[in-house]
Amino acid sequence: MSVTAELPTTTLSELPVAPPAYDVKDLSLADAGKRRIEWAEREMPVLRSIRERFEKEKPLEGLTAVACLHVTAETANLMRTLKAGGMKVVLCASNPLSTQDDVAAALVQHYGVATFAIKGEDNDTYYQHILSALEHKPNFTMDDGADTVGIIHTEKRELIENIIGGTEETTTGVIRLRAMAKDGVLAYPIVAVNDAQTKHFFDNRYGTGQSTIDGIIRATNVLLAGKFFVVAGYGWCGKGLAMRAKGMGAQVIVTEIDPLRALEATMDGFHVMPMAQAAKVGDFFCTVTGDKDVIRGEHFAAMKDGAIVSNAGHFNVEIDIPSLAKIATGEPREVRDFVDEYVLADGRKIFILGEGRLINLTSAEGHPASVMDMSFANQALSAEYMNLNAKTLEKNVYGVPQEIDTEIARLKLLSLGVGIDTLTEEQERYLASWQEGT
Ligand code: ADE
Repeated sequence: MSVTAELPTTTLSELPVAPPAYDVKDLSLADAGKRRIEWAEREMPVLRSIRERFEKEKPLEGLTAVACLHVTAETANLMRTLKAGGMKVVLCASNPLSTQDDVAAALVQHYGVATFAIKGEDNDTYYQHILSALEHKPNFTMDDGADTVGIIHTEKRELIENIIGGTEETTTGVIRLRAMAKDGVLAYPIVAVNDAQTKHFFDNRYGTGQSTIDGIIRATNVLLAGKFFVVAGYGWCGKGLAMRAKGMGAQVIVTEIDPLRALEATMDGFHVMPMAQAAKVGDFFCTVTGDKDVIRGEHFAAMKDGAIVSNAGHFNVEIDIPSLAKIATGEPREVRDFVDEYVLADGRKIFILGEGRLINLTSAEGHPASVMDMSFANQALSAEYMNLNAKTLEKNVYGVPQEIDTEIARLKLLSLGVGIDTLTEEQERYLASWQEGT
């Protein structure tokens, strides 16, 4: 059931005065979603401490944000933090398959966040949801994949004059936004949250590593130990995935186009070879490159019977599924949830997971809360930073200020009970000098 209506008039304090419209699957899931959000919050102490400060200081008062993010329990905790800071937030999904419907319901029912997201929505509904969110006339955007920025810059240009800035969560989105800035078409400043060290060192590496393996296992329940696992791309996400696949006992093969990364993967102990070669050997394939057509017709044609192919990159363009459909006989058959079987003319079967959409959010629950804690702390503090500096920021892509990054690392260590040393005065002097030698 999908409902588009006014928010329920409950007594909950977090509901806004003027109820916005929403579109979620089923409001009766709201209590289950709230429990899930509270469970995630236990692992998000940095974000919680920011929320507590925001509640007192209200640094985001006057801002209306459209957030186009994966609608998960972790995102819900970010929404609560932004609201505590005085921001009005409207949320839509950044992927048609990543929404947790119970969380979406809880956001509407228990936290008063206008939410437009239904797991499994078709492409038209996906874009309609972004447009519905934009009806709220944001002066701030928060993206995971730059879809909102893209729509604003093409179809909704009238919104631009009202917008002070935005943030971007993911590598793919940052690449697009930098291309826009380079071409001189970016119309407002963006902070690239992805580029913070407390984001990509942890979320991209440990988050993608664990959650992608989780997604593949939940979808297939196939043993990884002893199998050949092909990781396409050795960026931060690829590094995390290769590390965790190895930890599960798989023999890991990395494919790359960058000589430095290929060298790094080799010295990290992985087999490195072109996809044309890996295609013949792999039992599992997972793309994490950010580019399109990484696994194509000629690769599918070479694969072994039973090969399991998935993607953990942002967009569903990394696996060229139409080229597989072309060499397959008949229609694909859904043999399990999120597993489509394609049969080749000689009888070989190839399995595509989650329609080639990012598997960690399609069949699993995305990155664990403990890493999203830092990613979303960066989002919250970057929004505060942009609001404070709106007048001086230009139409460009900015990194997260180093002080914010360092503060998040400090708070995370504190929450983990990990202590570190400090430099003595003598050591500080030594580091600042050049005269002292052997
Ligand atoms: N991206 C990857 N994992 C995520 C999660 N758990 N919540 C929101 N965005 C994500």
